[in-house]
Amino acid sequence: MALPRVAQLLLEGQPGTTLTVAGWVRTRRDNPAFSFIELNDGSCLSNLQIVVDASVPGYAETIKLATTGASVRIEGELKACPAGAKQRVELHAKSLEVLGVADAKTYPLQKKGHSWEFLRGIAHLRPRTNTFGAMARVRNTVSYSIHRFFQERGFVYVHTPIITTSDCEGAGEMFQVTTLDLERLAKSTPASNAAPLVDYTQDFFGKKAHLTVSGQLEGETYATAVGPIYTFGPTFRAENSNTTRHLAEFWMIEPEMPFYELDDNMQLAEEFIKTIVRDVLRERAEDMAFFNDRIDKTILATLQNILDHDFKRVSYTEAVDILTTCGQKFEYPVEWGINLQAEHERYLTEKHFQQPIIVYNYPRTLKPFYMKCNDDGKTVRAMDVLVPGVGEIIGGSQREDELDTLLSRMQECHLNPDDYWWYVDLRRYGSVPHAGFGLGLERMILLLTGMQNIRDVIPYPRFPGSAEF
Ligand code: 4AD
Ligand code: MG
Repeated sequence: MALPRVAQLLLEGQPGTTLTVAGWVRTRRDNPAFSFIELNDGSCLSNLQIVVDASVPGYAETIKLATTGASVRIEGELKACPAGAKQRVELHAKSLEVLGVADAKTYPLQKKGHSWEFLRGIAHLRPRTNTFGAMARVRNTVSYSIHRFFQERGFVYVHTPIITTSDCEGAGEMFQVTTLDLERLAKSTPASNAAPLVDYTQDFFGKKAHLTVSGQLEGETYATAVGPIYTFGPTFRAENSNTTRHLAEFWMIEPEMPFYELDDNMQLAEEFIKTIVRDVLRERAEDMAFFNDRIDKTILATLQNILDHDFKRVSYTEAVDILTTCGQKFEYPVEWGINLQAEHERYLTEKHFQQPIIVYNYPRTLKPFYMKCNDDGKTVRAMDVLVPGVGEIIGGSQREDELDTLLSRMQECHLNPDDYWWYVDLRRYGSVPHAGFGLGLERMILLLTGMQNIRDVIPYPRFPGSAEF
């Protein structure tokens, strides 16, 4: 039977009701005649205070097992707390049952104040801490908000494949998927063999396959059939970047809209970010107050500032002008044509504009083959949304919809159009202007929570050298 949850009881539980709750002990304090248990069931940050009188059956043997981390089930009567207490109600136990003990000598969360790194090493237990409980609930609310945003606008949720034989971003940062016996292959290959080492026709799919870096290309095929679509799934990148902003496995949301041009795309991206921020502030007020209090004291003000202003739109060329004339010293020098580094992006959004900005029209040499070329011959209709504290949170573009231009761009990017024949077909049959973007879910959670490391906003982070759990 579903038990009442603590979140609901604290909000609307009626004094006088008898009910059963279950959860995990956060702390226990003993007095001669009774004990207080702070019970957390994960439904909210707050604990429910339980008063266990020494007259409760079995008190003497049971109470000492109810240590931090133990799971308990309690039947009792809800009573109003005295005026001035932290909470509206508390539960007066009639029975106490310890479902599972947690040995105080070994339970890793017996004490508070562990480092982030230590907690990463116990990723299976860290959701029982305040921070990671709050993170999980915020992630959930963001996910729901994202689906609601698109569903309310008539977008169709499309499930794009995880295993793919094309490289959407053309960056070659893909994890390979194979059923070939690598150990046997390694043994059978002569050291000085110049011939192709591996016969992929013998592999599971008959050709080389990878985990997807983006569902965009397949998303485009549905957007040019059923109208606006979005994807929401895991993506994988084998980039060896050991930063606080990169994961090897992350979740991406990719809307794709037929008949949208770059301006429409920017408009949607801004509305999208603002809607998520608004929903989380409204629906996760307690968790957000916690992040503001304990993680980053500016986070609520930053988020309000995001809601209160239009995202400033800045062309790449203007951005470079700002960076070269601002007098700031950067580790990577700036000139037209360079890839903007995190330090440049953060200077623009945090120092110069102090609000989210959308940088658009990047040099074509920096961007993937699928972005629409501008008439200037130098730039493509790309857009990156940059936000304070994080940097790039969204990357997107209008797509190249002309067959010949797409083919010549593929050539420029050293891609073989035969490998993308189905994608090219979209430009042969009923091609339309279209655009889309990708939001990195974990970067969005960084923005919302003020957490410093992307490894701490996903339940089980994957990064170079680490895939425990
Ligand atoms: O800018 P990216 O590479 O764009 C694409 O993949 C396009 N196909 C999206 C599209 O137009 N449909 O990635 C999009 C976003 C980035 O802005 C960033 O937020 C996130 O995905 N991202 C990562 N997040 C965590 N770890 C990584 N290694 C990431 N790489 C990209
Ligand atoms: Mg990008």
